[in-house]
Parts: sequence; structure tokens; C-alpha cells
Amino acid sequence: MIATLHPIERASVDELRALQLDRLRWSLNQAYTGNPRYRAKFDAAGIHPDDLRSLDDLARFPFTTKADLRDAYPFDFFAVPQDRLARIHASSGTTGKPVVVGYTRTDLDTWAQLVARSIHAAGGRSGMKVHVAYGYGLFTGGLGAHGGAEALGCTVIPMSGGQTEKQIQLIADFRPDIIMVTPTYLLAMIDEYHKRGLDPAQTSLKIGIFGAEPWTEAMRREIEGAFAITATDIYGLSEVMGPGVAQECGIAKDGPTIWEDHFYPEIIDPETGAVLPDGSEGELVFTSLSKEAMPVIRYRTRDLTRLLPGTSRPMRRMAKITGRSDDMLIIRGVNVFPSQIEEILLTCPALSLHYLIELTRPGRMDVVAVEVEARSGSTAEDQARATRDFAHKIKSLIGISVNVVIRPPGTLARSEGKARRVVDRRGATVN
Ligand code: DLL
Repeated sequence: MIATLHPIERASVDELRALQLDRLRWSLNQAYTGNPRYRAKFDAAGIHPDDLRSLDDLARFPFTTKADLRDAYPFDFFAVPQDRLARIHASSGTTGKPVVVGYTRTDLDTWAQLVARSIHAAGGRSGMKVHVAYGYGLFTGGLGAHGGAEALGCTVIPMSGGQTEKQIQLIADFRPDIIMVTPTYLLAMIDEYHKRGLDPAQTSLKIGIFGAEPWTEAMRREIEGAFAITATDIYGLSEVMGPGVAQECGIAKDGPTIWEDHFYPEIIDPETGAVLPDGSEGELVFTSLSKEAMPVIRYRTRDLTRLLPGTSRPMRRMAKITGRSDDMLIIRGVNVFPSQIEEILLTCPALSLHYLIELTRPGRMDVVAVEVEARSGSTAEDQARATRDFAHKIKSLIGISVNVVIRPPGTLARSEGKARRVVDRRGATVN
């Protein structure tokens, strides 16, 4: 149980760097000896874990990408025998197959400790009640938050996502102190409070821990204006661990501190791969320092941000994510690649491959429309069936609801270069 700060949260930067170097050596060896894919990759690059003399030497090791994980589907990216895995989670891949991640018992304990540390940094304490409204299941949000809240000594309310009315009912009846949820879903809950003539500021909630999708300072102001809470940012990704890779301090509220004793961050130029100095905008890359089951070496997150000096901790902070260096969308907290939608489209013979995904946020929640051209020669009946089928498959395979709009053949704009597949108009309402 965590009562105070972990000693490393009070260590000097030199102590932190020394620990990182030790752990990095261990992690490179874990990857090299446990995972034949890493061994082959390092060998091909002519580099060995023993070549690491300083943290800067990490830049000589090859990157890991989502494609590497996809190619290893389902279980070939692990560095321990399968019977040592205590749990498996999964997140969206660029195609139908998800990216699979695994944890040993020790990894689950580390994860719980880091989420506990995160909740503590946000202002949470043992004995508080935590309402978890991140989804439970293969997504790392629900179970990740859950394990951390338990490890901190809190009472967990494992509500999961959805069922807005019930969320509000339970918040009123169970009187939680902390809510962990995607920020856009909390905004939707605010609307529900107002619809019922209730004032969210009157709830028992004091702290919000929001992540899994980008959110803005304007959203923070709105959330803190509606609820009487401190709204903090939690960052993470499945491939690196899940929620709790970085967490914002509830007092400073100056961007998430990266738990650098377990994850070594770099910022690279997404085009050239060159490591950029702290403070420069670029793609965030992580190397895990303690993971047993699935060490990741220089994993390219595709998230664009900057590394900032530490303030309340010796570890560096990250600025708000400004975008991504790939085409992944986060729709209602669900990661979606346009290629997943295209792959489903291929299975609907009455529909062509000319499509456009349009994202809006008319109220609080994301709305997705997919305009798609019918194939010439298909009947109105074929098209109606294909529309239903397409929307149904997207819902069941990707997990989001979409409005499918059929257009006559030849009516969607043709691009002269790279096809424009996505029009994202959500920013206008949240910034
Ligand atoms: O979203 C883990 C998580 C769950 C984090 C709950 C925080 C809270 P994935 O589904 O693998 O994992 O998605 C990871 O989501 O690369 C970012 O693009 C985005 N993301 C996560 N947290 C934030 C955040 C979870 N605080 C991807 N701000 C990441 C902006 C975020 N983007």
C-alpha cells in the first residue's frame, strides 16, 4: 500500500539516470535473450545489449513499431514462456487483427504500483472510493485503473463505460471521491446531469483522472467549472503497459510526469528517426525498463509531443499530445485506423472503395459518418443490405457506431494524390 512518495520520486536526477542505465541493460538483455525477434533485429543491426555504455547509446538500437507487434500476432512478441503470462490485453491494430500484449505476475504488480503512484500524484489517498468508468475487458483502461486503485488501498467501484444514467445514480449513491474516465465521456455525463436538473458540483467527486484520448486545457476548465474537482491527465498505451505510463500532479497540473524509472522516453524526428533534444516537438518513443513478459525497445508511439523538465518529480514531463504521426483516430476513446474500415468495406460487394470518414462532435460525443459510393450495377436493395451489413460489422469488429451514407457511383471527390479518407471536424468544438 502506498502512503507517501516512492523514494525514486524524491531522488536526484543523477540517481534516476543511474537506475535507468542499470535497468536498461537488464531490459535489452531480456528482449535479446527472451524474444527471438529482438535477437534477429539486433543482430541484423550489428548491435548487442553489451554495446550499451551510456543512456545515449540507446539511439544505436533499432526501433520497434506496431507492425512488428502485428507480425508477431498473437503470441510471438513475448520474452517469457507462455505459462508465465498472467494476463493478456489487446488494442487496435491497423487491420482486423488486434495488437496483443502480455504481463507476468510481476508486470501486473508493477503496473498496479505505477497506477497507484499515478492516483496518489493526482491527490488520491488510501481509503478513498474510486469510480472506474474506463471500459473493462481487453482494453487496458478499466482493469489497469482498477489494479492501481486497489494497490493504493482505495475502494474500487468497477462500473466500466456506458450506461450513463446508472453512472450518475451510482455516483450519487456510492459517493466516490475519484473518477477515472475518458474526458469526453465525462462531458457527456455533465450534459446528463444538466438534463436532469442536477448540479454536478454537488457530487462527492473531488478528483478526476482523465486519459485514453487527447483533451485540451479548455476541456479542463469546463470540467472543473462543472464538477468541484481537480482534473488531471493520465497517459499510457497498451504496448508500453496501459494507463499510468505518465500522470499529471494534481497540485502542479503542468502536464503528465513520465514514470521514467520504468519507461525511458525519447523524442525523435518522425521522418528521419533522429533523436531530438528535450523541448523539441517530435514523436514520443519509449523503452520499457522493467517489463518481463513483453519488453519494448524504442517503441514508436506515433504520439507527437515534447519532453519538458521535471517540476514536482525528478522525472521529465510530457506536453499535451498535439497529434499523431500516423492516421490513427481516437473515436469515443476507441483507437481506429481507417485501414480497418477499408478492410471491412472490402467484404461488402455492393459498396465501392471510394469512401470518406467524417468525424464531428455536435454535442459532446464523437459522431462518425462514413460516406461510401455504391458500386455501379448494384440495386437499391443490395445497397440497403450492404449499408446495414457494413455498419454492423464496424460495430462488432471495431466497436464504434457509424452512420453509413450511400452515394451514387462517381460522386465522391477523387483526389489527385494521396486519397483524403478522413475529415475531422471535432476540434472546432473542443478547443
Ligand atoms: O488508451 C491506455 C489508457 C487508458 C491511458 C486509460 C489512459 C487512461 P491504448 O488503447 O493503447 O491505451 O491507446 C493509446 O491513446 O498512444 C495516445 O494516442 C492516446 N492517449 C492515451 N492517453 C492519452 C492522453 C490507452 N492522456 C493511445 N492524452 C496513445 C492524449 C492519449 N492521448
